[in-house]
Amino acid sequence: MATAISTPNIAFIKYWGNRKNTLRIPVADSLSMTLSEPSVEITIDHADTLKIQSSTIGEEREIAGKHLDRFQKVIDLAKEYLGTLGMADALPGELSIRIDSHIPPAVGLASSAAVFSCLARAIAALITEEKVLTDEQVSIIARLGSGSAARSVMGGFVALRAGEGESIDAAKAVQIADEHHWLLHDIVVIPSREEKKVGSTEGHALAATSPYFAARIEAITTRRQQECIDAILRKDFEKLQHMSEEDALDMHHVMETSNPPLKYLSQETHHIVGEVKALRETKHLPVLFTMDAGPTVHLVCTDEAAEEVRAFASAQKGCTIFESQVGPGARVKE
Ligand code: DP6
Repeated sequence: MATAISTPNIAFIKYWGNRKNTLRIPVADSLSMTLSEPSVEITIDHADTLKIQSSTIGEEREIAGKHLDRFQKVIDLAKEYLGTLGMADALPGELSIRIDSHIPPAVGLASSAAVFSCLARAIAALITEEKVLTDEQVSIIARLGSGSAARSVMGGFVALRAGEGESIDAAKAVQIADEHHWLLHDIVVIPSREEKKVGSTEGHALAATSPYFAARIEAITTRRQQECIDAILRKDFEKLQHMSEEDALDMHHVMETSNPPLKYLSQETHHIVGEVKALRETKHLPVLFTMDAGPTVHLVCTDEAAEEVRAFASAQKGCTIFESQVGPGARVKE
């Protein structure tokens, strides 16, 4: 039996589009900050058939249909990957999986990143007598469940490197700096709690239909990713703000021009973004906005700006607020 705990992450350079969808091998690198909360805990053990029990904030949820298939696929792919490491039989035939999630549903915090990084860490712990996997190897298993999950395997600031080729281990995460490097907060402003209509997995498959997709990949590959990494290493907030906002808006431009178009941002999102810009102008606060596949606005700021950003977030009418900060990533629970 093994238990792990993990959390979502928020990306500064977004992952959007795969060069191989079935293995979630991204077209371009991405970069994120792992969050300290909310967490997911997963316990796995040997079983005769795949069994999954799941509860979200104390409420039991059934995992069936395509959700169950997704877990089965990850386990099969994890076995395939372990085979390439000479450990084809390290994992038992089937697993029982118990998921306890503290992530509120439909708030724009990627529960799949937390869940699959957690599952990968638990799998690594279960097979540890045979071989201890490196964080990079664990990130590959996490990626097979959800691309962004690869980044939550490690704490602090993490890049998912797209790599080359289409082999199962082509793309892996690397830590840029750990969680002690720079205390940044993520103050999350949630205008709507509706479940999104098109999930990320379906969205990735449409990305390349946008006429702006290639230019975004080019921008990330030639400058954005590296400039963002440099900004983090130098704790240059202005640069980080500039690069991450440019990339988030660019991703939404690609989404909105894909075929069919995907519109995740709402009027409320645009309103909050406008207000943040105004706040920044008057108060010169180190705060940046970024949005994933939903209307939720993540306000990432430095410690000295946190109080004012918190007050700003609380003043947004009809919004739920959630707060987190940079965190340690997926770990085994003793
Ligand atoms: C917009 O990792 O959620 O949040 O691999 O299908 O699970 P799957 O996709 P996912 O995609 C993340 C999309 C994003 C950007 C990001 O977090 O980098």
